[in-house]
Amino acid sequence: MDKLIIEGGVPLQGSIQVSGAKNAALPILMACLLADGPVNLSNVPRLADIRTSLKLLNILGCETTFDGNEATSHCVGLKPEAPYDLVKTMRASVLCLGPLIARLGEAKVALPGGCAIGARPVDLHLRGLERMGAEFEITEGYIIGKCAGGLKGAHISLDFPTVGGTENLLMAASLADGVTTLENAAREPEVVDLANFLNACGAKISGQGTSILTVEGVTSLKGCNYRVMPDRIEAGTYMVAAAITGGELEILDCPFQDLDAVSYKLREMGVWLQEEDDYVLVRRANGLLQNVDVTTLPHPGFPTDMQAQLMALMCFGKGAGIVEEKIFENRFMHVLELVRLGADVRLKGRTAMVHGVGKLTGAPVMASDLRASASLVLAGLAAEGTTTIERIYHLDRGYENIEEKLSGVGARIKRVSE
Ligand code: UD1
Repeated sequence: MDKLIIEGGVPLQGSIQVSGAKNAALPILMACLLADGPVNLSNVPRLADIRTSLKLLNILGCETTFDGNEATSHCVGLKPEAPYDLVKTMRASVLCLGPLIARLGEAKVALPGGCAIGARPVDLHLRGLERMGAEFEITEGYIIGKCAGGLKGAHISLDFPTVGGTENLLMAASLADGVTTLENAAREPEVVDLANFLNACGAKISGQGTSILTVEGVTSLKGCNYRVMPDRIEAGTYMVAAAITGGELEILDCPFQDLDAVSYKLREMGVWLQEEDDYVLVRRANGLLQNVDVTTLPHPGFPTDMQAQLMALMCFGKGAGIVEEKIFENRFMHVLELVRLGADVRLKGRTAMVHGVGKLTGAPVMASDLRASASLVLAGLAAEGTTTIERIYHLDRGYENIEEKLSGVGARIKRVSE
C-alpha cells in the first residue's frame, strides 16, 4: 500500500492548478445514462472514484473512454443492475438509481451501506422517487426499484437538503412525465453544475442554486459537450496549505465565488486572500492566526468537506475555537491523528474544542477518509520533522496529482509504494 512521507516546515510558494470537481463529475457521469447520444466531458479529474464510475457505466451498458482529462460515454443498451462489488467502493454509485428507473422503469442497485464518516442512509432518495411513482423493496442487500407506468412529475419536499438525493431526483425528474418541484433542495454548486449539464442535454430545469427546483420533464435527452466545474474543496485545501505553511500561493482556476463561507473564516483567522483575473492569491497576513468557531452546514454554509482542513490550520492558531459538525455524525476521525502530531483537540459528541498549540511535530499517522487525509497532509506540511501518512488510497479518491502539485510549490513530499 502506498504511503506519503512529508518533511514539514517549507513555506509553499508559486502557482497551483485546481482540477475538475470530483463531486460534480460523479453525478454528471451517472447522468450520462439518461442521454441517447454521446457525451463528451472535459476537465474530468483523474481519480479512483472517476474510474469506478466509468466501470459502473460500462456494466450498465455504456461505452466509455478516458483520455487525459476528457471522458466520453455513449449508452448502447442499458442494463438495470449495479453490483455490490462496485457500489461498496463508492457511495456515489447510488446516483445511478434515478437515471435507471427513469429510462428502464426498473433498477437493482446494491445498498451502499455505512461508511467511515457515518451511516449515510438513502431514505430521502427513495422517498422522493416514490412520490414520482416508483416502488422499492430492499432484499438481499439490494434496492429493487420498479415503475411500470413510468415516472410522473410530483411535488417533493425534502426533510433535509441532501446533495445526492437532490441529484438523483433531478436526474429522474428530467425524463418524468410532467412537472416536478423539489423543495428544500440542495444548493451546492455541484448540484448547479449537474443541472446545467442536464439542460445542455435538453432538460428543462430552473431554480438551480436556490432551494426550489422546477423540472419540466422531457421525453428524451441528447448527448452534449460539457466542461466540469473546478473543485472548490481542492481549491479550499490549497488555500489552507498556503496559510498553514506561512507561504504564498496563486490558486489557478479557483471557483472563488463558491468559497464564500471558507474565505470568510480564513479572513477572520487572519489569512489574506485576493481575487485576481484568473487566480486567487493566498498568504498568511502577519504573525499568528487567530482561532475562530465554525459550524458545518449545507451550502452556502461552511462545507463539511473543509472541516478537517480548517481544524488542521487551527492547531497552529492562537487561542481556542469550537468546531461543530452538523452534517455527518462521525466526521472527526482526523482528530486522534492530529493529536498524535501534538494537537490539543477535545471531542464531545459532534463538537471539537481546538486549542492552538503553535507547532506540531511529525509522526506516523493513518488516513481514515478523504478529507481526514487532506487534513493530515496539511498538518504534515507545517509540522516539524517527518510525517508518514498511511492508507493514502483515500486521498487518491479526491485529489488529482496531489504530491506533484504540492512538490511543484516547494513541498518536500514523496509517495512510497510497499
Ligand atoms: C455529498 C458529497 C460529500 C459531502 C456531502 C455534504 C458527493 C459525491 N459527495 O455526499 O462529499 O460531504 O454531500 O456536502 O457529492 N441523509 C439522510 N438520508 C438520505 C440522504 C442523506 O439521512 O437519503 C443524511 C446523510 O446521512 C448525512 C446528510 O444527510 O448525514 C448529508 O448527506 P448528503 O447531503 O446526501 O451527502 P452525500 O450526497 O452523501
